[in-house]
Amino acid sequence: MIGRLNHVAIAVPDLDSAVSTYRDMLGASVSDIMDEPDHGVSVVFVELPNTKIELLHPLGDNSPISAFLDKNPSGGMHHVCYEVDDILAARDRLVGEGARVLGDGKPKTGAHGKPVLFLHPKDMCGTLVELEQA
Ligand code: CO
Repeated sequence: MIGRLNHVAIAVPDLDSAVSTYRDMLGASVSDIMDEPDHGVSVVFVELPNTKIELLHPLGDNSPISAFLDKNPSGGMHHVCYEVDDILAARDRLVGEGARVLGDGKPKTGAHGKPVLFLHPKDMCGTLVELEQA
């Protein structure tokens, strides 16, 4: 059911330092910093030949990644995002198999303007999983 790996998201305590790591040390193509107030994050997109890395930093008071950074002060992998063709069909199948969808269970518009859902890490091998309708 799942398709391509759309991105891996890494929460970072210092976005400028993370940009320098990916651009200067690793030699990757890195976007400007983009603020996404609706999602409570500032994001930098790292373009790799076969996927993307998203560097996430908290924006505002109620950022969904603040608690993660409290627990992981030097940063860490926050979630992986897999593409699906039909997000409602994917959700219904997963819920039918016992997976928990975070929030109210309805798809939201994600950072790329497409419908997304998040699945509980305890049901996904300890990893927060985002599904995006590609
Ligand atoms: Co994501």
